[in-house]
Amino acid sequence: MSSYLDRIGAGFILNKPEVFGFDYVPEILVGREELQGQLASLFTTIGHPEGTGRAVVTGPVGSGKTALVKRFCDDLIRHVADKRNIKYVHVNCRNASTASRVMQKIVQDLDPGHPDRGLGVGELLTSLRRMLQGDNSHIIVVLDEVDHLLRHSGDDIIYKLMRIDEDGNRTGTLSAILISQEQVLDMLENAVISRLGRSNHIRVPPYDESGLLKIATQRRDIGLVAGTCTEEILNLISQAAAPSGDARQAIELLEGAAKRAESSGRSLIESKDVQKTVITLPNNVDSMNIEDIPPHAMLVLLGLCRRLKKKENVTSGEAEKLYHVVCEEYDQDPKGHTTFWKHLKRLAQEDIIVSKTAKSDVGRGRTQHISMPHMLPSDVARRLETLIPSRLR
Ligand SMILES: Nc1ncnc2c1ncn2[C@@H]1O[C@H](COP(=O)(O)OP(=O)(O)OP(=O)(O)O)[C@@H](O)[C@H]1O
Ligand SMILES: [Mg+2]
Repeated sequence: MSSYLDRIGAGFILNKPEVFGFDYVPEILVGREELQGQLASLFTTIGHPEGTGRAVVTGPVGSGKTALVKRFCDDLIRHVADKRNIKYVHVNCRNASTASRVMQKIVQDLDPGHPDRGLGVGELLTSLRRMLQGDNSHIIVVLDEVDHLLRHSGDDIIYKLMRIDEDGNRTGTLSAILISQEQVLDMLENAVISRLGRSNHIRVPPYDESGLLKIATQRRDIGLVAGTCTEEILNLISQAAAPSGDARQAIELLEGAAKRAESSGRSLIESKDVQKTVITLPNNVDSMNIEDIPPHAMLVLLGLCRRLKKKENVTSGEAEKLYHVVCEEYDQDPKGHTTFWKHLKRLAQEDIIVSKTAKSDVGRGRTQHISMPHMLPSDVARRLETLIPSRLR
């Protein structure tokens, strides 16, 4: 009975599912030491009784802005705990896009019993001032996705918060960190960045493939059962996520692939688990313009697909042999070496395959390692097998 539930909770691969949760922030942010240093340099006085800091953090989607700031606030609070009582409130302005919603969120985070109804922004500011009266207390207000607030309600509340000390007899009560995606920079540019100080602006770059690989490796090591995910699988994942530069995508691919492998009863992630997850991504570039490639490029690709069904990658040498086998099957004379390379290059340009010089081979000939992170080789092979006969006629 209920054997169909056997795999639930079996944990063949996913050891700590929470590691893949959207609000999980690892202790160590891999490859972001320099940015962490930049952010810390804007808060050098925070350990002093009247010190405050300000920062504006911008960067593309999934570049780790939220993680950077959350990690920083947690670390900072611990670091100065014996000097100062610092609290931090993280407001996501997507959910709180008006001044009063922002203030409600701040006040209620500090005091969950605070009445939330019927208070205006001014009263909420007074409440906040009162809450922070105690000696030595300080608050860092993080306004994440602040463009939602700016678009909706302007920047007034930001300045009111930063001037919170003006009516009282204290100084150094509040620090502010604003976060936004880069695309809305122009809106931030004039409205906020100049008034917060241009030198307080931290630009977070997107991740490249090797950055994504490090992040995926870290999640594997903390979230998966040892021995369930090879380096090749991690390479495939970082290749698939590289065009977006989005760490979230790499992490979601790892989790998705792990779940797929588990639900088919395996304890090892295979490349098809990754590829099947990639094609479900919302903005998966549909690089299936396979119809338009020359017939012999199709034959090259078919050879590759057949091998990539079983392996994460194939060397260019193997690929050429596979191409010859396919030519024989379709009764074609194989084209020469140079033409074969031309076809490989084109397939890579069209994002159908990814071709990389193997690390150990750099400077020794031009052996390439070929993989297919964006598509499922078995699907592509099936399409090619129907297309090729008509193209060769
Ligand atoms: N350097 C890193 N090391 C480990 N994990 C990271 C790193 N950078 C980002 N991540 C993880 O990647 C995911 C996306 O990061 P985050 O949410 O911080 O991106 P973001 O820039 O805030 O994106 P958005 O613009 O969509 O808000 C999170 O799960 C985060 O923990
Ligand atoms: Mg974010």
